[in-house]
Amino acid sequence: MDKKWWKESVVYQIYPRSFMDSNGDGVGDLRGIISKLDYLKFLGVDVVWLCPVYESPNDDNGYDISNYQSIMDEFGTMEDWEELLEGLHARGMKLIMDLVVNHSSDEHHWFVESRKSKDNPYRDYYIWRPGKDGQAPNDWGSFFSGSAWEYDEASDEYYLHMFSKKQPDLNWENPKVRREVYDMMTWWLDKGIDGFRMDVINLISKPEGLPNHADGGNCINGPRVHEFLQEMNREVLSKYDIMTVGETVDVTPEDAILFAGTDRNELNMVFQFELMGIDSGPDGKWWAKPWTLVDLKQILSKWQTMLEGKAWNSIYMNNHDQPRLVSRFGNDREYHNVSAKMLATLLHTLQGTPYIYQGEEIGMTNVRFETIDEYRDIETLNMYQEYLEKGYSQEQIMEGIYAKGRDNARTPMQWKGDSPHAGFTTGTPWLAVNPNYQEINVERALADDNSIFHYYRRLIQLRKQHEVIVYGRYELLNPEDQQVYAYTRTLGEERLLVVLNFYDKPAHFTWTTDEAVAMSIDEVKSAELLIANYDVTAGEDVRQLDLRPYEARVYKLS
Ligand code: GLC
Ligand code: CA
Repeated sequence: MDKKWWKESVVYQIYPRSFMDSNGDGVGDLRGIISKLDYLKFLGVDVVWLCPVYESPNDDNGYDISNYQSIMDEFGTMEDWEELLEGLHARGMKLIMDLVVNHSSDEHHWFVESRKSKDNPYRDYYIWRPGKDGQAPNDWGSFFSGSAWEYDEASDEYYLHMFSKKQPDLNWENPKVRREVYDMMTWWLDKGIDGFRMDVINLISKPEGLPNHADGGNCINGPRVHEFLQEMNREVLSKYDIMTVGETVDVTPEDAILFAGTDRNELNMVFQFELMGIDSGPDGKWWAKPWTLVDLKQILSKWQTMLEGKAWNSIYMNNHDQPRLVSRFGNDREYHNVSAKMLATLLHTLQGTPYIYQGEEIGMTNVRFETIDEYRDIETLNMYQEYLEKGYSQEQIMEGIYAKGRDNARTPMQWKGDSPHAGFTTGTPWLAVNPNYQEINVERALADDNSIFHYYRRLIQLRKQHEVIVYGRYELLNPEDQQVYAYTRTLGEERLLVVLNFYDKPAHFTWTTDEAVAMSIDEVKSAELLIANYDVTAGEDVRQLDLRPYEARVYKLS
């Protein structure tokens, strides 16, 4: 068993723009985060992942960086950032920073130089190509709608941007670019940070000749990606005791083992997207199709078993790019409380490092703004235009946005029920607060023992008390059951049984494996209930359980 602090940790993701505003300009900032460190400590998380806080024109809210070594004015100063790091360390928490190096901002001085002329020393920091017959160099599309190429008059060439046209892709083929990135990473590590979350890191290597998409060309898991990450590991990462998690688009468990395998010297873990694609229809992520529990179990079980002993899972069901998990996988109406706790139980009892996205711990939900004018996210705004042009109705498009839009996750953190804008700001928030803040807010959650917040605290504490939660081997029970998700976790003599009802109807669970049959009635009745989201009578035969809507139970068998 390969013990590591980052396997035993729980990570809390902060989207700074929406977390807490300290000066009334409507934008969350570093001093706002500093004012909430005791809150995070009380929740019990070990690591904070801070989404980008670097200088940026904010075309994509900080994922377009114009200076990697300075702090965005709106968020504060480098002194504020240092105070944040100290504040976290003083409380025994760690800090990981977002590393966005597939692309920079077009306002980064490298790009400002690069676009000046074909012989500029920075020209080759980016990916420039002449057009083909007056068209873009190839047929690649940007993740944010439209072509991935932008024509630039100054030199009569196109540059590649897999995201917005203000996010030109860096040319990783150029050793100077890699050197700049490694030096910058070292600079942050020497300031004392504890690791990186690496933005779309499996896009950095582009295939030779940039073949058309129609001919199978794309930049996912490109030919040199592992070589680059091993170089980065050798030059930078291996010199520090840190954690790294790569955001990797479209990867399989086999790919994940290449990126995060114990013997690979690349990353510690990756974020997979297979689960997030479970409700994408044939026409893409916006046009949701219903998901089934059998598929969800199949996906998670595959990742659990294939990575066992080879690599490490990161466990998440939402983040700043995804809708809220309680709205998507649970029930944000009459079963809000129990369904949010049921999902939390899943996330904190799988093998892997759990990631909590800000507001998840109080059950924040998706939002439905009436008109497109209230939305801010570039992906959402571009998609709206794209589908209007394709002839979709406004209603259809808004349904897509309600289900999948990234602003669902970006409405400001709901701190208080009785203050304007949920106590997030004294000014006008950059994105409106979810109107349900009077019911769902931190103040109320803290005061109520039965809240989702206190349940998260207990789950996090359990992780510290039972090694089996961290390191135990996962085994799925009853894969075909359409309503109940049940599994065991085993470490030596220690064993957990997790049973989750995923629906708003009662369910029955029967455990029929050979070993369950072989257990004595005393053994099954003496199972210790570790946590549950309803009151439970002691001494039940855990092989036969009647479950209430969204009921979750975790037993320790011995
Ligand atoms: C990642 C980020 C997302 C951003 C994109 C481009 O997917 O999580 O927020 O828009 O990369 O940087
Ligand atoms: Ca502010």
